[in-house]
Amino acid sequence: ESIQKDDFYRKALEAAEFIRGKLKVQPEAGIVLGSGLGPLVNEMEDTTEIAYSDIPNFPVTTVEGHSGVLIAGRLGGRPVLAMKGRFHYYEGYEVSQVVFHIRVFKLLGLDKLIVTNAAGGVNKNFKPGTLMLIKDHISFFSPSPLRGKNADEFGVRFPDMSEAYSRELIDLARAAAEVSGTDIQEGIYAFTKGPMYETPAEINALRILGADAVGMSTVPEVITARHAGMKVLGISCITNMAAGILNQPLSHEEVMKTAKEVEGMFMRLVKAIVEKL
Ligand code: 6GU
Repeated sequence: ESIQKDDFYRKALEAAEFIRGKLKVQPEAGIVLGSGLGPLVNEMEDTTEIAYSDIPNFPVTTVEGHSGVLIAGRLGGRPVLAMKGRFHYYEGYEVSQVVFHIRVFKLLGLDKLIVTNAAGGVNKNFKPGTLMLIKDHISFFSPSPLRGKNADEFGVRFPDMSEAYSRELIDLARAAAEVSGTDIQEGIYAFTKGPMYETPAEINALRILGADAVGMSTVPEVITARHAGMKVLGISCITNMAAGILNQPLSHEEVMKTAKEVEGMFMRLVKAIVEKL
């Protein structure tokens, strides 16, 4: 039944039309803010806030530490549309709902997407507080947001993922990091469905597969953005080391605490990147 009835295009179009009616300027880039990284919006000027609950067909967020609001405005002088509070698969949403906003962004004319997240460090050279540009991802264990009837309005049935993360944007971000004096790493992000953190054996397995970081978001959004032809930049804030690396249990409190500690550095970096877009 759902195979034929899903009409992501029409639903996203309704949401986009509603949002467009509230925008004062055409945004150039979309920014999705991860756990604890929401304060970036305090750096924005000329803001217009739109609650998810007011947007037709928009899902509503549930998790602590994530509010649900779109913020249009200027960051570093450039018009952007920021999303504070995202939808996670572990919350119980269908993966198609988890990526709904990406298609809305596309229909609003945004061709660049900056996605951020809090992630666990798998690479033993990382420390809590490390910022990592995502150069690629591993997502063998996740349901695809593109499963089902292809939404032809956005892209092809079998989209290429050779450059899921734009080389050009990574270079630009590295240059921006240098200018803003931010230390930055580069690595591979592995997606897990959550909500539990991984076991030490799972983290060892992911490391052998080539992962540097692990998290419960971002990948479905990036796949959907690439399907729709958007250029993507991904940035992980390593908030904690993944299981089995340090001799201590993991907690959401630690994630939020580290995110708060690096907030200033992270905001400077994103602002410097946006200035260069
Ligand atoms: Cl260790 N794993 C996952 N999946 N997500 C995280 C994390 C770990 N730390 C922060 N987010």
